[in-house]
Amino acid sequence: MQSESGMREVRARLATARAVTVLTGAGISADSGVPTFRGADGLWRNFRAEDLATPEAFARDPRLVWEWYNWRRELIATKKPNPAHYAVADLERRLERCWLITQNVDGLHRTAGSQKLSEIHGNIWKVRCTRCSRVDENREVPIAILPSCAACGGLLRPHIVWFGESLASEDLARSYEALGRCEVLLIIGTSGIVYPAASFAPVAKAAGAFVVEINLDPTPHTELVDVSLQGRAKDVVPELFS
Ligand code: OAD
Repeated sequence: MQSESGMREVRARLATARAVTVLTGAGISADSGVPTFRGADGLWRNFRAEDLATPEAFARDPRLVWEWYNWRRELIATKKPNPAHYAVADLERRLERCWLITQNVDGLHRTAGSQKLSEIHGNIWKVRCTRCSRVDENREVPIAILPSCAACGGLLRPHIVWFGESLASEDLARSYEALGRCEVLLIIGTSGIVYPAASFAPVAKAAGAFVVEINLDPTPHTELVDVSLQGRAKDVVPELFS
């Protein structure tokens, strides 16, 4: 189902739902000017993930990896949440049971006010000690001398889930709980090919949720969802609740 009738159906579902789960990807932040990963100007079109976003890359050349993350931090620091981030944050205030699962590491959902969320791929504004695993928020990472842990002196790394790494078990447990109990799942701006998030739509569908996708383009989820709304997140998402 698409367009007008699809939009009407989603609005009606959202108006009566008591439990809603939202899954977001880079597309929601694209409208804030944050580059996506796989689009025409996507990061993985211009950089090799194997060189920058794997534990092996960090072991080989931590400075190079930190330089790349600091470049991304500088870029993200100039961006602000857009109406789609705010609409998602607002939903949390209106519903008793609402959970946001985001693959984005930019922190824009938090800036917009979301608090009930799992940042399943980490957060670019946080660092983690490679020795004692302590996680801290740290906005100024010096890379002339590589950053070290205030507690144990170990080398700090970005608090990001890299390729080949597992998600935190707590994030996974919370996500599956939210997928299993929601009446509506909104999937916003993700290409739907990176696991485990790529499996979340079928999980929610199998548990009986009404599944809605909002994306500029068709994705592997499009055939499976109940309604697919094509358009920009910043235009479509606020419309769902107006
Ligand atoms: P992708 O770059 O793979 O996909 C972005 C999706 O957003 C695409 O399906 C676009 O069609 C859609 N899109 C782009 N602009 C949009 C807009 N304005 N409104 C709505 N949709 C729009 O990003 P993700 O699916 O988030 O991992 O990628 C998943 C993970 O792969 C990321 O979290 C990242 C990456 O490697 C880590 O950083 C660990």
